[in-house]
Amino acid sequence: MTRLKWMIALSFSITALSVGAATPKRWQIKRQWRLSAHADSMNTKKERIRMNTPECAHCHTAQGYWHEILDRGISEAPYKKAVGITCIACHETEKGRATPALRVGDVASACSGCHDILVKNDESLFSSCPQGSMLKGKAGAQLGRKNYRIGAHSQIEKKCAGCHMAPPPKGEHRVGGHTFRVISKGKGPRIFNPTGCVACHDDITYEWVKQSQEEVKALIKTLEKLLPIHHSEDPEKTEPRPKYPQDPSLTPIQSQAAFNYWEVVKDGTFGVHNPVYIRDLLNASIRALKKNHPSVQNH
Ligand code: HEC
Ligand code: HEC
Ligand code: HEC
Ligand code: HEC
Ligand code: HEC
Repeated sequence: MTRLKWMIALSFSITALSVGAATPKRWQIKRQWRLSAHADSMNTKKERIRMNTPECAHCHTAQGYWHEILDRGISEAPYKKAVGITCIACHETEKGRATPALRVGDVASACSGCHDILVKNDESLFSSCPQGSMLKGKAGAQLGRKNYRIGAHSQIEKKCAGCHMAPPPKGEHRVGGHTFRVISKGKGPRIFNPTGCVACHDDITYEWVKQSQEEVKALIKTLEKLLPIHHSEDPEKTEPRPKYPQDPSLTPIQSQAAFNYWEVVKDGTFGVHNPVYIRDLLNASIRALKKNHPSVQNH
């Protein structure tokens, strides 16, 4: 992969790539969607009740999403006959059937309604799905005077869909399109869909992505060791985890660094959404903690 290729690709429209890919049939779209996490957004009886509450319904039910996120109304949960993130959550309907038209109007805004905000369910927790703000380079707390760099992924025209809904390799239904996945989950070897990447990274492989993620995991580990750890009273929970940013025992700098730590961890991609930005966030947090607590430098 050469830098030149990125520059060339960036100066043209990268959407050109999807031209020529055959439009999937409705049954194919349905099969893809069934494999997606969206099909699980309220898939048990217990969850149908729990997700249809004012704390959860705006992201986990179609009705809550329309009323609270798209129309900016105040919550009226529980909604009657609420459904999860089915076709009609995102698409306009005609006689009860989803049409290809999106309720949000444009592809670039199709995901950030739910994948962009801090979830306020329990003040003692830190629930966040910050993928939208990570992509924009707006998710973190500023530590140090230098602005963080924002990488090329923020310029992708279709945003999330450019990578997550790119047409899958021929004959593959576990990634791409309406599976909303770039990398498959579950049993068996991982399947990677490079379609949304190759305009800028010519021979990209899953191994290369994983290698890049390993670098970011190492930075996360370094930051983790510098942050005060929460010791759980629950003996089942043996994983040490840094305290949440709102913990009153943290200094302001520790709190900001903890915020950056958790935003990166909750984003869940180990850097992929905004490689240079996420590295800068982690490095600035590590530097700030070391500067303020020289005694922990040798960890
Ligand atoms: C702002 C939108 C939003 C709200 C509000 C929200 N969620 Fe979610 N939830 C998400 C997203 C997005 C994911 C996908 C996880 C990710 O980011 O990887 C998710 C994933 C989940 C998952 C499955 C994934 C996992 O971590 O095991 C559960 C369970 C869940 N949410 C429960 C809840 C409950 C319960 C509430 C209400 C108390 C709630 N959520 C409120 C957006 C939201
Ligand atoms: C989370 C939101 C979301 C859900 C749920 C969803 N879609 Fe889509 N759909 C989209 C977006 C975004 C596009 C545009 C993709 C693009 O242009 O790359 C799209 C495109 C389409 C298209 C146009 C053809 C294509 O593949 O681009 C059809 C038809 C379609 N969806 C049908 C469905 C059906 C049927 C379901 C349910 C099984 C469904 N969608 C569920 C967001 C969604
Ligand atoms: C109406 C709210 C909503 C919209 C719009 C939405 N999502 Fe989601 N998304 C969720 C929720 C809720 C979950 C978690 C479902 C679960 O596991 O219970 C989720 C899960 C996911 C996951 C799986 C995360 C994991 O941990 O495996 C991916 C990937 C994803 N969404 C991508 C997208 C993309 C791409 C779009 C836009 C085309 C989009 N989402 C639009 C609410 C939404
Ligand atoms: C618009 C062009 C473009 C597209 C499309 C694109 N990338 Fe990138 N990517 C870049 C550039 C440029 C960089 C260099 C760092 C930056 O700008 O963030 C990069 C950096 C990366 C890195 C970090 C590399 C490192 O040095 O550690 C990973 C991982 C990555 N991209 C994965 C992907 C994947 C996976 C896809 C597709 C699903 C993709 N990219 C799509 C342009 C792009
Ligand atoms: C440059 C390509 C690219 C863009 C743009 C992109 N993603 Fe991702 N995203 C990825 C890749 C690759 C992964 C898989 C990382 C893995 O599985 O290790 C991923 C993973 C995810 C996950 C799952 C994280 C988890 O916990 O497993 C969610 C949710 C998600 N993306 C949502 C979004 C949303 C929402 C947007 C737009 C705001 C977006 N992504 C934009 C490439 C991209």
